[in-house]
Amino acid sequence: MAQSSTEAASAYEQLLTKYKRIANVENAGGILSWDQQVMMPDEGTPARSQQMSALSALGHELLTDDEFGELLEAAEADDPTDEQADVLRELRRDYERAVRVPNDLVEKISAASSEAIPAWKQAKAEDDFEEFAPHLEKHVELKRKYAEHIDPDRDPYEVLFEEYEPCLPLEQAEEILAEVREVLVSMIEDIRESDTELAVDAFEGEFAADEQEALARDALSTLGYPWDRGRLDTAPHPFSSGTQFDARVTTRYDESDPLGSLFSTIHEFGHALYTLGLPDEHYATPLGEDRDLSVHESQSRLWENHVGRSRAFWKHFLPTFTEHFSAVDASVEEAYEAANQVYEDNLIRVEADELTYHLHIVIRFELERALVSGDLAVEDVPEAWNDKYEEYLGIRPETDAEGCLQDIHWAYGNFGYFPTYSLGSIMAAQLFDAAAADIDGLDEKLSDGEFGELRTWLRENVHQHGRRYETNDLVKRATGDDFAADAFLDYVESKYGELYDL
Ligand code: CO
Repeated sequence: MAQSSTEAASAYEQLLTKYKRIANVENAGGILSWDQQVMMPDEGTPARSQQMSALSALGHELLTDDEFGELLEAAEADDPTDEQADVLRELRRDYERAVRVPNDLVEKISAASSEAIPAWKQAKAEDDFEEFAPHLEKHVELKRKYAEHIDPDRDPYEVLFEEYEPCLPLEQAEEILAEVREVLVSMIEDIRESDTELAVDAFEGEFAADEQEALARDALSTLGYPWDRGRLDTAPHPFSSGTQFDARVTTRYDESDPLGSLFSTIHEFGHALYTLGLPDEHYATPLGEDRDLSVHESQSRLWENHVGRSRAFWKHFLPTFTEHFSAVDASVEEAYEAANQVYEDNLIRVEADELTYHLHIVIRFELERALVSGDLAVEDVPEAWNDKYEEYLGIRPETDAEGCLQDIHWAYGNFGYFPTYSLGSIMAAQLFDAAAADIDGLDEKLSDGEFGELRTWLRENVHQHGRRYETNDLVKRATGDDFAADAFLDYVESKYGELYDL
């Protein structure tokens, strides 16, 4: 027998090969999920649910396999390079979380969600919290157990938060959100008392969906979306998903609200651009995967708020808008004001503006912390919810459908997810400031429709690193400072101070 011409693969290489299989199984599940939300005929659900749970079980089996654990240990002991050490840190974290939770608990949570989702839908439709309460109770109980398996010695909410933010300390997140809450509550009060009237009717009327789609395509092309690695489709709840080779965007069209759909398209573009900026050569390994939810959301919010809602963008884009909708007769200033109005009496998170949005998040964050710790009983959620809306936003929901039943997240038992939305927006402000400091005349470039340098800055400072750096490290390398609320607070104070003459 001839000797093998290649050396035996190292533990690290074998481990990476195993991980690639897991990542590919997950990515295949992502495509099935995209299809379910965008293309699949209504009756496809029973088969699709089985296909997706089979892939998810397979991924879990591959990750929790004894051999994966052994290879991980061997690779860690094998004098890894810096890059390998970063990858091993990520794989160790994924592995530990996966092996500590028993399969039957994962199945129970998944079964509880399958029952809770239709119950939540019905409870919301009938404005009947009691219908949903036992399901929420069950999720709280199961998720406490889940956290206990991962780490019995820590605050269970902290452990659950790490599911979405694996390397951002909860304490830091909590401080940032408390600081933002304090400033926003009083700003929103001042705005309510201000006499300044913004040009809120710049985009009133009927806007045909097919023309809005043409506009969305123009917006994506303008911002630099590579159509050979993406698509635009419609979905009831817009999202983006995929890999660096194929990152797709979805949106929805409301004929009375063209800005809503445009900003949702730009938001999802930001998510897709992050995914597309992950290095091709590291596909299906931690260096070719996104960091976490707050970093992802920082990318979508940066494009949506700091670009899409800026004067500079409207200087460039208003003529494109009126090419599609010639009845709109707004100046750049009017378009800017309409895009940045604050809705003082909005109860619904997904319809909120850039400012009140964060109080919607803070309320959910505070309530779910109290729920998980046991300080708040499930039956008291509606009252506690309404009290907080009154305290922070000065409005009180009249129904639970418009109150604590509005979002689906708790029906999935997702506790710890909401704060990532705000953290992402706050991070976006810090990153945009740093980009503006590095790029000469960024504002002018944006008004000239030149978005390339901003895309490149984001790719170099954020996207291309994948999961190489932990969140704080990534932010510090990109901006020179620790992740904090300062840039965001400066941004909202200067922007809304000017808009509302505060
Ligand atoms: Co998003």
